[in-house]
Amino acid sequence: MTQTLTLTRPDDWHLHLRDGAMLKAVLPETARDFGRAIIMPNLVPPVVTGAQAAAYRDRILAALPEGMAFEPLMTLYLTEDTDPEDVAAAHASGLVKAVKLYPAGATTNSSSGVSNFDKVRPVLEKMAEIGLPLCTHGEVTDHDIDIFDREAVFIDRVLDPIRRATPGLRVVMEHITTKNAADYVASQEQDLGATITTHHLIINRNHILVGGIKPHYYCLPVAKREEHRLALRTAATSGDARYFLGTDSAPHVDAAKESGCGCAGCFTATNTIPLLAHVFEEDGKLENLEKFASQNGPAFYQLPENPGQITLVKSEAATQFPTKIASDDGPVTLFDPGYPIYWSVA
Ligand code: NCD
Ligand code: ZN
Repeated sequence: MTQTLTLTRPDDWHLHLRDGAMLKAVLPETARDFGRAIIMPNLVPPVVTGAQAAAYRDRILAALPEGMAFEPLMTLYLTEDTDPEDVAAAHASGLVKAVKLYPAGATTNSSSGVSNFDKVRPVLEKMAEIGLPLCTHGEVTDHDIDIFDREAVFIDRVLDPIRRATPGLRVVMEHITTKNAADYVASQEQDLGATITTHHLIINRNHILVGGIKPHYYCLPVAKREEHRLALRTAATSGDARYFLGTDSAPHVDAAKESGCGCAGCFTATNTIPLLAHVFEEDGKLENLEKFASQNGPAFYQLPENPGQITLVKSEAATQFPTKIASDDGPVTLFDPGYPIYWSVA
């Protein structure tokens, strides 16, 4: 018996496409199933100005294979020197859909991020005025805060104070990994949403550490205890408009992952939609997959839903995904859920 499920074409509200050879290799993996994606600006050097975002957008479109349709939704990397007027102009032209806050040192390529939050006040106030969302990497970087507690502490010490000080600022808590974050979002009536990744619905911290260290499961924010994974599953599959898909698909070549100091990031672009179908079906919530992947995100970003559709097929035989994607920089290992998946995108 095959089963099918047709959805409005999904979007990815948090995606790393990189640049150069890696961009060329990974872009088709997203464009195959997704209509649009919020493109993370943590290149080296970062995408800080409107001019840099426009040039990056052109490089993405130039790397798109003939016949594929995909719209990159650009973001700016917030620094302590960001000019509020440049941000406003990039938003007014339609180029930029969000600004990304990385606490300095929190994750891959975040050294230009923010240390002194008072310095970015004028930018945040301008964003609240013009209705441009702030995407947050929600982890503090204090050395005395345990890595598993960094998200929860960020909510109390950084996020909630910023939101109180900037009424009307619309914020996306990116890639939430804790019950604390899911509960904080649920407690707020307006101006707050959260993205949830595919992999954080599937793995907990045991998957990274038990039976030998698994570098391809290491990402930031790091996966937490099982109780947190279950809270994320409840939030994602609930249909609640405040939660939407942001894969945080973050390709690194195998040599950089399988290393004495391995990079953070899970690469999930290729199999995300089938994996989500599995997860939502397992929780008896397949009817809410379209909200999570295709409807809640556009509603938060005040954009129309994609015009097209995709059809998912569930077969008797397990879907064969590639184990790696080749790039001219080297192979990138695809996220492996550790169990067979019977869904595929037709
Ligand atoms: C991301 C990357 O590799 O750029 N890594 C990750 O583990 N998620 C950065 C990020 O989003 O934190
Ligand atoms: Zn990311």
